Amino acid sequence: MRAVTWHGKRDVRVDTVPDPAVEAPDDVIVQITSTGICGSDLHLYEVLGPFLDEGDILGHEPMGRVVEVGPQVTKVSVGDRVVVPFNVSCGTCWMCGNGLYSQCETTQVREYGTGASLFGYTKLYGQVPGGQAEYLRVPFGNTLPVKVPDGPSDDRFVYLSDVLPTAWQAVQYADAAPGGSLLVLGLGPIGDMCTRVARHLGVEQVIGVDLVPERLERAAARGTTVVDLNSVGSGEDGGDQELGDVVRDLTGGRGADAVIDAVGMEAHGSPAGKIAHQVTGLLPDALAAKLMTTAGTDRLGALHSAIDAVRRGGTISLSGVYGGMADPMPMLTMFDKQIQLRMGQANVHRWVPEILPLLVDGDPLGVDDFATHHLPLESASDAYATFQEKGDGMVKTLLTTAAHTG
Ligand SMILES: NC(=O)c1ccc[n+]([C@@H]2O[C@H](COP(=O)([O-])OP(=O)(O)OC[C@H]3O[C@@H](n4cnc5c(N)ncnc54)[C@H](O)[C@@H]3O)[C@@H](O)[C@H]2O)c1
Ligand SMILES: [Zn+2]
Ligand SMILES: [Zn+2]
Repeated sequence: MRAVTWHGKRDVRVDTVPDPAVEAPDDVIVQITSTGICGSDLHLYEVLGPFLDEGDILGHEPMGRVVEVGPQVTKVSVGDRVVVPFNVSCGTCWMCGNGLYSQCETTQVREYGTGASLFGYTKLYGQVPGGQAEYLRVPFGNTLPVKVPDGPSDDRFVYLSDVLPTAWQAVQYADAAPGGSLLVLGLGPIGDMCTRVARHLGVEQVIGVDLVPERLERAAARGTTVVDLNSVGSGEDGGDQELGDVVRDLTGGRGADAVIDAVGMEAHGSPAGKIAHQVTGLLPDALAAKLMTTAGTDRLGALHSAIDAVRRGGTISLSGVYGGMADPMPMLTMFDKQIQLRMGQANVHRWVPEILPLLVDGDPLGVDDFATHHLPLESASDAYATFQEKGDGMVKTLLTTAAHTG
């Protein structure tokens, strides 16, 4: 089959690799029709190289049709249309039973002390072959795949794999109340979807921050108050006010009730982390991996903005992925402001029952035209480069395979 594979920093290719096969009696094989490229994939492209091997298959936002099932699979059949969550979660352990699918105890990667395995996401997360491919082996066939109805296009359902549950969890964890205010840092696919979910759930004032014009425009078009990071003190044009001041002006002087950081470790405006990223790119893998897990390699610009802009007693919800283990944090301010901080990979299955009805009955979140680009799997290499540069107005790309129809 054809699959998107990692070859080195900023080097992603489409190769011919062996087809996956049923290995465990409850495995299913899914023929992929559509598969997203995620901001998390950019971390693999840019900084997480020490934890990848050449040839690793990327991708964790796939959907398609079941083409083969192991002998113990009873919940899906050949021909079923399914979305595959990015967490490899068993559905039956204590963590899964408590809705914490991203901490699944059956697939935790104990060698690295990390949570549930993820499709297509480094040795830290099990080195499981990913879903930017023509076929995908999916374990836990009775509990992991999400069956979706025939009819609407792939675009309607594919974001159940990651973007929708991630945004849903971010908003829930932010504790943003109807009538309250929410600040969303980063208006990539995750931040954009957070603004939509928040509005759908009745949050009155949604403020979004980014520095890419098309992303700001897209959020503004749906009613978000947008702030261009370039226009404030920490931005390129160096305005007079810091972002926190702008947000306080918009929220009666107090700051936002809740803040979502949908930026993560590659935030703009964090010089120390940037150097660490460049250094890890130059070191041999073993040393770089050590540096990444023991030193402060994250670019904390967005997180510092969140701590400044949240009101006292407010909540910060982190969806952006952070990786370093010893990042300096403004602990004094965090404690003094009595901030509530929640974070983690999305527990996909925890939110599917709440989200799926919104996709079957109309399209209140606007997923049908959420993707800015639909491209063939074969053009993945260019698509990654464009997404990384934020070129061509690209916000969200779905790669489609030959099996995609309509
Ligand atoms: N928690 C989860 O389960 C989960 C799931 C998916 C993605 N993620 C993470 O969420 C983050 C966003 O993902 P995405 O797909 O939207 O990626 P993305 O890279 O397209 O979006 C990030 C956005 O942040 C903006 N930005 C950069 N620095 C900023 C700053 N200092 N202030 C405000 N905005 C800034 C960028 O211009 C960009 O538009 C990534 O870190 C990704 O790894 C987490
Ligand atoms: Zn993702
Ligand atoms: Zn489990």
